[in-house]
Amino acid sequence: MTTQELTLPKAELHLHIEGTLEPELILEMAERNGIVLPFPTLESLRAQYEFTDLQSFLNLYYANMAVLITEADFADMTRAYLRRAQAAGVRHAEIMFDPQAHLARGVELTTAVGGIAAALASSEADFGISTGLIAAFLRDESEASALEVLEALLAMEAPIIGIGLDSAEVGNPPSKFVRLFERARKAGLHLVAHAGEEGPASYVTDALDLLGVERIDHGIRSVEDPALVARLVAEQVPLTVCPLSNVRLRAVNTLADHPLPRMVEAGMNVSVNSDDPAYFGGYVGTNFAALEKEFAWGASVAQTLASNSIRSSFASDARKGEMFAELDSWVAAQG
Ligand code: HPA
Ligand code: ZN
Repeated sequence: MTTQELTLPKAELHLHIEGTLEPELILEMAERNGIVLPFPTLESLRAQYEFTDLQSFLNLYYANMAVLITEADFADMTRAYLRRAQAAGVRHAEIMFDPQAHLARGVELTTAVGGIAAALASSEADFGISTGLIAAFLRDESEASALEVLEALLAMEAPIIGIGLDSAEVGNPPSKFVRLFERARKAGLHLVAHAGEEGPASYVTDALDLLGVERIDHGIRSVEDPALVARLVAEQVPLTVCPLSNVRLRAVNTLADHPLPRMVEAGMNVSVNSDDPAYFGGYVGTNFAALEKEFAWGASVAQTLASNSIRSSFASDARKGEMFAELDSWVAAQG
């Protein structure tokens, strides 16, 4: 990696905090919490990181969450991410967590939210990264379950800025969650959803029209529908693309086959994100470096992608202005 990808000031908009649990930290937390993992050594654990599709990854991702027990575990995981994000040039991060996955294991909302929020509260001071927290709901669970958890988050005044929709996509379309998104909109929350990762382009259209989302997570299969592409360009709908994730989960065969260059060329509002960096081969700087190696785009496309990430964030206009100024300085320094 050159320093360019790391110094490029950027926002990360698609990041699952549980997907930042590195194998070393998983083993350390298992040890301190007295949890016996099915793969108790680094070598045996690392051997599990070959995925064939989204579900094969989700199985390991949920299993590894078993080590997250205390508020300190959630705070340590979050700080470890912020440290790595800082090194990758991230200035603003919108972070998803999966409350239902923790509740299902008997971990209270206050524990998960409290630990993550404690780390985020000092993120600007500790790492120079402004943040927002997004509660992601599991689309393979019922809408009733999601609504119950959303009400609990609202009742405890959890410091969330929005809701998202993640987990197994195919067979769990946006139409299943119309009431959930209505409730969140009424509560003044931002709305995002995964769509068009493994699922069809029609899920992207439905997430926009039925759920009213402001951003689409992934959205790569949009390119299969020219009318949808034209709409996404016209409306400048943000798509938070995660190239290394798509390669590792076989949504694309190789990085060379990734639709991102076509999406950039078409004028779509795409950003580059890491998704679950501990599982997919790297943080956002590594994603940029892999793209640069594959497509040799140079500074101007990097600038466009970073600029898209800033304008598509839910940061305040003042914060966006600071980040755009930093991006301008970065561009000037490229010569
Ligand atoms: N897709 C769907 N659900 C997820 C992902 C993803 O990439 N990561 C964590 N949950
Ligand atoms: Zn994701």
